[in-house]
Amino acid sequence: MQRILITSALPYINGVKHLGNLVGSMLPADAYARFMRLRGHEVMFICATDEHGTPAEIAAANAGEPVAEYCARMARVQSDLHDGFRLSFDHFGRSSSERNHRLTQHFAGALADQGMIYEVSEEQMWSEADGRFLPDRYIEGTCPSCGYDRARGDQCENCTKQLDPTDLIDPRSAISGSTEVYAKETKHLYLKQSALRDRIRDWIGTKADWPILVTSIARKWLDDGDGLRDRGITRDLDWGIPVRRGDAEWPGMEGKVFYVWFDAPIEYIAATAEWADANGKSEADWRRWWRNDEGAEDVRYLQFMAKDNVPFHTLGFPATIMGSGEPWKMVDYLKGFNWLTYQGGKFSTSQRRGIFMDQALEILPSDYWRWWLLSNAPESADSDFTWEGFQGGVNKDLADVLGNFVSRVTKFCRSKFGEVVPEGGQPGEAEAALMTEVQARLDGYASAMEAVEMRKATSELRALWVAGNEYLQHAEPWAVYKTDPEQAAMIVRTALNLAALYAAVSRPFIPDACDTLVAAMGIDAQAGWPESAEVALAALPAGHGFTVPENLFRKITDEEREGWAAQFAGE
Ligand code: MF3
Ligand code: ZN
Repeated sequence: MQRILITSALPYINGVKHLGNLVGSMLPADAYARFMRLRGHEVMFICATDEHGTPAEIAAANAGEPVAEYCARMARVQSDLHDGFRLSFDHFGRSSSERNHRLTQHFAGALADQGMIYEVSEEQMWSEADGRFLPDRYIEGTCPSCGYDRARGDQCENCTKQLDPTDLIDPRSAISGSTEVYAKETKHLYLKQSALRDRIRDWIGTKADWPILVTSIARKWLDDGDGLRDRGITRDLDWGIPVRRGDAEWPGMEGKVFYVWFDAPIEYIAATAEWADANGKSEADWRRWWRNDEGAEDVRYLQFMAKDNVPFHTLGFPATIMGSGEPWKMVDYLKGFNWLTYQGGKFSTSQRRGIFMDQALEILPSDYWRWWLLSNAPESADSDFTWEGFQGGVNKDLADVLGNFVSRVTKFCRSKFGEVVPEGGQPGEAEAALMTEVQARLDGYASAMEAVEMRKATSELRALWVAGNEYLQHAEPWAVYKTDPEQAAMIVRTALNLAALYAAVSRPFIPDACDTLVAAMGIDAQAGWPESAEVALAALPAGHGFTVPENLFRKITDEEREGWAAQFAGE
């Protein structure tokens, strides 16, 4: 038994996430966590909302709510949707938690003690009317390069030029519209990341088993030299974690908060402490996952994220940990994903283009989405959601193959032998061949999951279901029954055992269907990964009772597909 720590990139608080967000981090992390639990490992699966920064403040202002209330409400909304998608986090925390406040301040203190932090005086735009600094999106004005008059402080949307708030011509506050804004001196803390470039390059060099996507992004940033420039880790904002040096005040930093990208990944650790608090556990109980000097040396730590998050997790967060001089756990395997597109274009939160998590669950139960998304995960390249592809995948794999197999064998058994596993007959060549095929597919599925290859894992699992269907198709118990009921009983018994095997091993992808099937087959929901195909196919003895489950999956009709395509065409 191993200990496995799994984190998924923290979803930003400002709204419901779309299916592209889901498949790029939380969903594959969940399938992996479920698989590892099934294998009997001790798993800690952690996620949280990422709540600080200007986008949260702006979203709250647009919603007309105080930012703390907005975040509390949206954290619940997101958490409920995760339950809806059956994401099996051990804890879903919040980056605004007390734990993260303390731990972020602790890291800043440790970094300062190591000489990794220095102060910089710089000019930032100040608004007299608003009585505050206006970072990034809080300031608008005329673009110095194209003349567009609604350019933002961080970027001109018209010509895409990256801007600094002080570059804008005729700047004004995006909050009050006031033009009484001017550059004013302010002090900020900078993290000396540049000092860690060699150590981080060496560390990345040891990660030969990581996806090429991930190491190539990390190397590109390291080589361009831009990725490990020193960076400002504080902001003049109200909403965030107050700048402190551990437990102590930080003279000159009053009224400032840490930058959202500094505190967010620290929440991976803090959320595990929140888990301990929420479950009556001790400090040692969470620290054994994160402190190498308290047991975490034995933990295997995996992170899941979309590719835009890779630079930060390969350079920025490791720099925070290394720079602290403390023995915190660093990531062992980083799984990065490409983009999921929607009908050939981008999923877009601002234009409401694509399918959002709440909408998806209003249309179909989560298993349908989980299966399609993971069997089409954008692993080696981008992948595209189309309604035709979705309908085809769901109808074929879930309804025609798995659902149909379960329904045929359980109904046939009920009609000829009743709702018990029938007795009699001797397995022959077909069963031996089936056994070999099942063992090969179980092994293939397991090794794909060990390697965190979702598409490969789903295709092995699909092949395992197909093997059952083909066995039944060729063995034809309905025909055999007329001349040899004992032989038919043996075939049905074999197929019922297959159904029970499917209920056990399909859980990482379709947990609800597995619950239904486990209950119908009268088997142990906690049963782990089967010892072997041979053991699995003899698990249900003759005389074991079962019930015919209700239809596991229904088909998506052409009419539904057309209706949804129109409904989700975007604005
Ligand atoms: N909120 C970020 C995003 O949505 C991800 C933050 S991951 C963390 O892209 F590790 F920094 F928290
Ligand atoms: Zn411009």
